Amino acid sequence: YIPNPTIAHDSSKSFIHCLTKKSIPPWLIHTRSSSSYTSILKSSIRNPKFLNTAASTTPLCIVTAKKTSHIQAAVVCGRRHRVRVRARSGGHDYEGLSYRAEDRREQFAVVDLSEMRSVRVDAADGTAWVQSGATLGELYHAIWSHEPGLGFPAGVCPTVGVGGHFSGGGFGMLQRKHGLAVDHVVNATLVDARGDLLDRDAMGEDLFWAIRGGGGGGSFGIVVSWHIKLVPVPATVTVFDVARTPEHGAIDVLTKWQEIAPRMPEDIMVRVIAEPHRVTFEGMYLGTCDELLPLMHHQFPDLAMIRGDCNEMRWIESIPYIHLGSNATVADILNRSSISRVNTKNRSDYVRNTIPNHIWKKIFTMLQQVTNLGEFQMYIDPYGAKISSIHESATPFPHREGVLYNIQYITYWNGDANGTLALKWSRDLYKFMEPHVSKNPREAYANYRDLDLGRNKVVNGISSYHYARVWGKRYFRHNFERLATVKAKVDPDDYFRNEQSIPPLFK
Ligand code: FDA
Repeated sequence: YIPNPTIAHDSSKSFIHCLTKKSIPPWLIHTRSSSSYTSILKSSIRNPKFLNTAASTTPLCIVTAKKTSHIQAAVVCGRRHRVRVRARSGGHDYEGLSYRAEDRREQFAVVDLSEMRSVRVDAADGTAWVQSGATLGELYHAIWSHEPGLGFPAGVCPTVGVGGHFSGGGFGMLQRKHGLAVDHVVNATLVDARGDLLDRDAMGEDLFWAIRGGGGGGSFGIVVSWHIKLVPVPATVTVFDVARTPEHGAIDVLTKWQEIAPRMPEDIMVRVIAEPHRVTFEGMYLGTCDELLPLMHHQFPDLAMIRGDCNEMRWIESIPYIHLGSNATVADILNRSSISRVNTKNRSDYVRNTIPNHIWKKIFTMLQQVTNLGEFQMYIDPYGAKISSIHESATPFPHREGVLYNIQYITYWNGDANGTLALKWSRDLYKFMEPHVSKNPREAYANYRDLDLGRNKVVNGISSYHYARVWGKRYFRHNFERLATVKAKVDPDDYFRNEQSIPPLFK
């Protein structure tokens, strides 16, 4: 790690002294001089470009909390000794903001929640309490072990942490049938900026609204646990991957897909993974192949799907199958480090009007230039049905009615952590896409965090609403102002702050 020379050592010493006085056992406090510090810091860093960079600073200590009182102690001591606290659940933040700060003067500690990951399922009631440190894989597995007829609509990758994921919305293969993860949160417990533990009643409806997708990670407090309503899943689901090359009609099928996929019945989700030389139509249907085939032939004949494309399985088996491959087992979704760690840069867009065929052809010409620089994928997720039917102000996540699909652009590269050429290329593509995607604002998904959209500017000790609007409106549209108003009410001193946290708006 890069030691930060400007850190006031007295302040950090008194912060750590305060933690021990508040009964956090010393073996849960990992300071920069502890032998455990580096391995714990790195344990959930998913993007190696953040392992070694002089452009940011690392925490002065990491608290591996085991109980809620440890989180409360970290916040109370942090306030008292001017050390900010960042929560880390699964460490997947695309900009690494759960464990690094860009401003090298920033004094902060990380509260790592990976030891707080219990899942209590009440199958009779169809609900569960899940702690933020659980991964999605652990959540799905626990639900399935209690009641195979229940599931939960959240992300595709099993190593993603519940805490960060729910803080920004959370979507995956069940989004068209059931919407987002946060559409199913019925209660939560949160440690606020005073160190108090609040449930839904105690926090009030405004704050409860804000943490369901508007946290943007660490703006309002640290969410300890979430009470969620589970959803029914059928005994059999059918998963398929149909791949086409651009030379064999993939671009024409993709052009048609834009009109069809967002309007299909809610039981079917067909997403697209576009790569320079291959387009994969990856789908999940909540039912059998016999039911799916006539539906696909009627609604999407251009895909020319055949029986051999169908893979019938239980819903829980679809989780490893889709993310880890056909040889992976259900037990593999419990492995917290199953994803490979490569340098990536992620951006996102929302599309409200279909993109013409000739533009897609140009996009693929651009994609084919990238092969020398690294690798590139576009994950294109269709909206419509349930995810789009919920009012845009029901939760802070605003990308609802009228959205056809979300695009995630992922640029991968090896070697040079700066990835200069690959990044320049991905910026050029993002610029090229501008006229073809949503406008005023050009929308982006908060969970696909992108600091190129803008960073907070601190004015008189408080993050400025004026500057934050630039990125905030893109993640939250009209909900951004309400989020900032809630922030002013619950954390007027802007204690929970990062490069893209919600700033307070004082009326
Ligand atoms: P991490 O611990 O890094 O936290 C992210 C942010 O939330 C940070 O700002 C952090 O401080 C804050 N935070 C964490 N825990 C908190 C808590 N308990 N209370 C308050 N704030 C907290 N998204 C999606 O919708 N669908 C998908 O399928 C996928 N798939 C996917 C795959 C892979 C490989 C990656 C790297 C990412 C995704 N994502 C995704 C995006 C993912 O939802 C997003 O990065 C989440 O913020 C990750 O949550 P973690 O807890 O893992 O991150």
